[in-house]
Amino acid sequence: MRPVPTGKEIKIDKYTMIVSKTDERGVITYGNSNFVEVSGYKETELIGSQHNILRHPDMPKAIFYFMWESIKAGRNITAVVKNMAQNGDHYWVVTDFDIKRDQNMKVRNYIAFRQVAPKNVLSEIEPLYAKLLEIENEHGMDASIEYLEAYLEEKKMNYNQFIDNIAKPKGLANIFFSKMKDMFK
Ligand SMILES: Cc1cc2nc3c(=O)[nH]c(=O)nc-3n(C[C@H](O)[C@H](O)[C@H](O)COP(=O)(O)O)c2cc1C
Repeated sequence: MRPVPTGKEIKIDKYTMIVSKTDERGVITYGNSNFVEVSGYKETELIGSQHNILRHPDMPKAIFYFMWESIKAGRNITAVVKNMAQNGDHYWVVTDFDIKRDQNMKVRNYIAFRQVAPKNVLSEIEPLYAKLLEIENEHGMDASIEYLEAYLEEKKMNYNQFIDNIAKPKGLANIFFSKMKDMFK
């Protein structure tokens, strides 16, 4: 049974890195201890589950569509995602990926690296996602994708540039997270 959203935000330290690994279909094969702890699920419940186990109903489909289009093509993307824990509480993260291929260059695994999303990001993202969801519920995902594309066109950016611009960790935090990511490579 899916949890019911509580509207309560889980507090996460800004230097916490939440990491998970999936196969090429998005089935979870590994989660670090932060990933397991924040999710509220047992590690054994997470491993072998589809990654949408964390999906929050406030998330527009269009964002996951953009995300999958990019990583399936082997291109990293930075995305802002609202996730839901087992008890219905939520947390906002900035996520980017490492894409692992086999010797035939076929994508085999994805690793997702997440940090808590800074508040200034949410002031822009929350209303945007709410709008996308509203459009999706009325007219379907193609309509919300079109809206998002027009929104980004006005900013003269693609989704990745838009998120990088508002959410990418800078200075010391950036160095810290780069080093952490290297440990998973
Ligand atoms: C490496 C990786 C990490 C993912 N992390 C999340 C996540 O934290 N939260 C989430 O809702 N979906 C995540 N997804 C996307 C899910 O696989 C799924 O597409 C999404 O939850 C939408 O679910 P739906 O396709 O059932 O609507 C991740 C996918 C991959 C490949």
